[in-house]
Formats: sequence, C-alpha cells, structure tokens
Amino acid sequence: VDDWRRLEDLTLSEFESVASKRVQERVWAYIQGGSGEERTLRANREAFLRRTVRPRALVDVSELDLRTPFLGHTTAAPFFVSPMAYQAEVHPDGEVGVARAARDHGILASYSTLSSNSLEDIATVSRSTPRWFQLYLQPDPLVGERLVQRAEAAEYSAVVLTVDTPVLGVRDRQTIGGFAMDSSVPIGNGGEVLPPARAPAQQGNVYRLRDEASQTWGVIDRLRSHTKLPIVVKGILSAEDARQALAHGAKGILVSNHGGRQLDGAPATLDVLPEVVTAVGKDAEVYVDGGARRGTDILIALALGARGVGIGRPVLWALAVGGADGVRRYFELLKVELATVMALAGVRSVAEIDRDVLRDPG
Ligand code: GLV
Repeated sequence: VDDWRRLEDLTLSEFESVASKRVQERVWAYIQGGSGEERTLRANREAFLRRTVRPRALVDVSELDLRTPFLGHTTAAPFFVSPMAYQAEVHPDGEVGVARAARDHGILASYSTLSSNSLEDIATVSRSTPRWFQLYLQPDPLVGERLVQRAEAAEYSAVVLTVDTPVLGVRDRQTIGGFAMDSSVPIGNGGEVLPPARAPAQQGNVYRLRDEASQTWGVIDRLRSHTKLPIVVKGILSAEDARQALAHGAKGILVSNHGGRQLDGAPATLDVLPEVVTAVGKDAEVYVDGGARRGTDILIALALGARGVGIGRPVLWALAVGGADGVRRYFELLKVELATVMALAGVRSVAEIDRDVLRDPG
C-alpha cells in the first residue's frame, strides 16, 4: 500500500485515511460528501455509536457461522456491497474489481445503473456469486426496461429499485470539489443511461423535474410485469412506505437514506429500522445501509432486525487502497471482526442474533 504499510498488515482503522491520499480530490469530495449540512450523514454513524452491546461470558462459541441467505441465495456473511456509482473513478479495477473480491469471499454485491463497467462485464467475473442490479428510474421508461432485461439475461438475482431520488440532494461538498454527475463521467451501461436530475428547473412560477419524477408506486407493478427477478425497494424510511412497497410486490426493503446524500434531515437508518421491521413482519426481507463500518455495527443492525447490512463508502476506500486486492482485504477483516464480536457477545450464528445482544436498543 505505502512504503511503510503493506496491504496484508492493514487494519480496518486505516482504509479511510490511506484512501484519502489515493484518489483525486474531486472524486474524494464525491465519495465522502452528503447533502446539505450533512446532518443525516453524521446521524447514520452516531446512531451506531449510541448503541451498546452486552458481552456474554462462558458461552460455547468455539464455532461461528456467518452464512446468510439473501432472497434464497446463501452467502458467506450478513453484509453486502451497497450500490455505488462510477467505481472506475476510484480505481481502474472498478466494479469488476469489487466483483472479483465479492466472488472470492462469497459476498453479495449490488451494482449501480451508473457503474463504470458494464453490468455484463461485472457478471462475467462474478460467476455464481449472487449479485443485484440497482435501477434508477429513467426519463424514458424503455431505457430502464432494457437495463432490467440485460440484468436478467446476465443472471443478476434481484433488481434494487432506488425510490429516494426524483432529484439529487443538494450536495455542496461534491459541487465545491468539482465533481459533476453528468455526461462527463463515463457510464459503462451505455450512452442512453442517465444519472438522476441534478436540480429542479424553474419554469415560470413553479419548479419542474424530469419525467421520471412523476412516477408513483405503480412503477413497481410495471417493473414486475417486465421481469421475473425479485424487487428490492431501496430508500425506504417509514413504515407507511414499507407497507406500500409490500403491497406492490416488493420482496426486499432496503432501509436507506442514500448514505446521507439525499434528504438532509432524514433520520439515521438504524433509528428507522425497527419500525420498518415491525411493519414488514415476515412478508419480505429487510436490509439497512448507512454508517456501518465494522463488525460491531453489523451485529447491532442484525440485532435490530435487519437480514443484512449494506456497506458503502468503506468498499470504495478499500478499492482506492488496493483495487480488487484492497476490497479482498477489507472483506477478510470485516468477516473476522464480525466473527470475533459475535464470540464476545455470545452468539454463534446470525440466526442467534436478536435484541438481547443489545444493552440499549433505543
Ligand atoms: C449516486 O448514485 C450517488 O448517490 O452519488
């Protein structure tokens, strides 16, 4: 990694700072930034730091099992890679590098509509490891449908429909850093694919957004009529919206505030998770992302009812640090740390993790 630090010696504590020296400033501003004052970005992390875990003594923890089923596919651990755009800006290995690491560790990964590599190239290296395709609604619905057909043909195992982005949040750090989410950043899935609209445009007395901003819940029904793949709805932050998603046939709910990049002032995902878990019951799987960094975070989110925990920025840090090898090292460390904290909390498998693990669940 650096002259003074080899990748195989790196600890989880070091990826962010090493990564910060490895990527261009404009890309760093894009990755790290949130929206507005970054209240929600901070809140995600603080919500983890508020919870405490109960250590348990003299439980037989000689064998620890991290395996977790996601929509019927068993993976090696209860965390997955959240969808993130433009990964070749971070490291030339791009999403294909993340896919190689995910394959080698049996980790579920999801890939953005705005990936730098094509979804087919990502699928080729992934082989039988499950992968999800994230869809941004497109102003021309046919463009979105074609993407989903391609994902189905390339054997993705679910479509993750992002529903929190009729327009991008106001991202000052990104703007100051000079990273524009527009056609200047290459997209691997083809020139017809558009990033979300940057800002409402004033038209007389009102502000207008692009056509996809008119979509309501029926869009999930339409999506279901175009694909056999299960649909995970990403960007849910209330029991009401979780129930809507279920009513329209979602099989998974991803509690997410887009890493604090959309509505500034939205709650920390961990604080919303219990209400969504209660609303969903056994009707779908519930996942969460935002602010999870380490093994203890994953344990806490699972204790609050998540089936799996999405990891975002840390995967980009690992990619920046060492490409596919950096991400491999990160997965290795995260798995071992999760197994370690499970042992110290007296739980042997992900199925055994429940509220009793937490001292202050609230
Ligand atoms: C991309 O999807 C982003 O949120 O920056």
